[in-house]
Amino acid sequence: MDFSIASDHAAVDMKNQIIEFLRGQGHTVNDKSPADKPADNYAEAADRVCTDVKQNAKLRGILICGTGQGTAIRANRHSGIRAALVTNEYMAEMARLHNNANIIVFGSRITTQTMAKRMLAVFINTPYEGGRHEERLKSLEAPVK
Ligand code: RB5
Repeated sequence: MDFSIASDHAAVDMKNQIIEFLRGQGHTVNDKSPADKPADNYAEAADRVCTDVKQNAKLRGILICGTGQGTAIRANRHSGIRAALVTNEYMAEMARLHNNANIIVFGSRITTQTMAKRMLAVFINTPYEGGRHEERLKSLEAPVK
């Protein structure tokens, strides 16, 4: 699977660990906040990954900041992006099954590296269920009054 990943300054270590973990499993990972081009602003980190995901429907995004909240809030302002902030494996599973999430979000100050890798494995291996969820996902894109 191909990934685009970015973090702010609060999650560089977790981001690097995840990149190593995914590459070790044969996945392709594009680091959008490398050491020579950090994204200290979490909105900017989110924008970099969202731009990639919007250009390639098969690509999955990973965003990490201190709580995960800033990157998730920003990412979900992009149309076509369904960014799920997850804190356990059940949330990661449901984010794929019901929400067809195309970005997974972690909080480096909330989640251990071990837990992040477990949630990522679930996220990668769980398909979207489709069916009754299609209409609901369409509604997510409807303009807000
Ligand atoms: C940075 O201190 C922190 O505010 C940021 O990483 C994130 O948690 C924001 O939601």
